[in-house]
Amino acid sequence: MTLQLPADSRILNTDFVFGVATSSFQIEGGQDSRLPCIWDTFCATPGAIRDGSHGAVACDHIRLWPQDVQLIKSLGVDAYRLSIAWPRVMQQNGDLDPAGVAFYRDLLTALKAEGIRTFVTLYHWDLPQYLEDQGGWRNRDTAYAFADYADKVSAALADLVDAWATLNEPFCSSYLGYEIGVHAPGLKNKGWGRQSAHHLLLAHGLAMPKLRKNAPQAQHGIVLNFTPCYADTDTPADKAAADFADQYFNQWYIKPLFDKAYPECINTLTADQQPQILPGDFDIIAAPLDYLGINFYTRHVYRADETEGFVVVDQAAAPKTDIGWEIYPQAFTDLLLDLNRRYPLPPLYIMENGAAGADTLVDGVVQDDMRLGYYQQHLLALDSAIRQGVDVRGYFAWSLMDNFEWAEGYLKRFGIVYVDYATQQRVIKQSGLAFRDLSLSRKG
Ligand code: NOJ
Repeated sequence: MTLQLPADSRILNTDFVFGVATSSFQIEGGQDSRLPCIWDTFCATPGAIRDGSHGAVACDHIRLWPQDVQLIKSLGVDAYRLSIAWPRVMQQNGDLDPAGVAFYRDLLTALKAEGIRTFVTLYHWDLPQYLEDQGGWRNRDTAYAFADYADKVSAALADLVDAWATLNEPFCSSYLGYEIGVHAPGLKNKGWGRQSAHHLLLAHGLAMPKLRKNAPQAQHGIVLNFTPCYADTDTPADKAAADFADQYFNQWYIKPLFDKAYPECINTLTADQQPQILPGDFDIIAAPLDYLGINFYTRHVYRADETEGFVVVDQAAAPKTDIGWEIYPQAFTDLLLDLNRRYPLPPLYIMENGAAGADTLVDGVVQDDMRLGYYQQHLLALDSAIRQGVDVRGYFAWSLMDNFEWAEGYLKRFGIVYVDYATQQRVIKQSGLAFRDLSLSRKG
């Protein structure tokens, strides 16, 4: 099976960026060679991770990175999206850690030598534990600590990075981490969730000028995730439920970047749930972006509920991936058109898209037809949005390889490359081969 696009698709232009993505905590391992982070602590909490696993070894990328660079190269892609582990490159006294910086310099140098463009995210959820001990993202000081880290590490790596992203999915860091507690640090408080979101966005805005100063030749932006919200029925109540959910889960993170305000749903928060916003914060947050990164996986359908306000309606008959997320590619097109209508967007990059599958390695082959179908449908959905005027410049598959899927541990496999965790062997799945063929076909 191959991945196919119409011959006139802009996705097939050679200047459209094809890439694969990972993040530090999910693949690196090497826990003993960096400071502890909130995910180390969370993994050590009984019941927090579904298979009781942790990130101490993960894909052992800290040792196997030279072969992983060759793997990326063999996939025929233009670019690799990785993240830097804050607790690996910064010491508690605020100085850079030379060994941590050397690791990323070596990795990025090897990628460059292979002609692979580098998209680097500064925060993909591995907050140093000592900062959490001081309140983590509930504490405004963490935003300033992030800006300092961003300043120092971007100065140290500026010559090796094509595009910097401040944060990955601040929704997950704040809502999942501080509001409902299913991600590190595992706290459950609505006010803390909203305050953390504000401090994360502030951190982004404080870091942007530092990145521009240190790397004027690179592109700078942020990566947001969206789960488009649909109403179960056309009733005003269900439509209002879907709209509220959209404001609360999606627009909360993008609206301040362009409109210098949170969506109206902020007015439904009680006084103690309101985030503290200081004068000038929105001006900092709305720093101009060179690009916006978008992560898309699925949609949610909502109906009104008397006690909860709104609830998700399970799409029982719909196709789903192995993590239970509905496969609904139309939402990808709808999302891009909707964002394009609402906001004065800079160029977009799809920084993550992909599917979890119950993959097995049989005679050296991983026949991941569901994932292949997912990629086929979503590339067509993206093509449709581009044809309707959305300026998308690149597409990254999540993920390069199977890895530590947060609260799901190693049970959910998102890679286009299979990882045998017992041997650390990597095997390119059928989806990876198709992705390679599509990417290479552009080069003619
Ligand atoms: C979102 C995150 O950025 C990434 O870390 C995660 O593995 C994937 N999506 C899949 O859940």
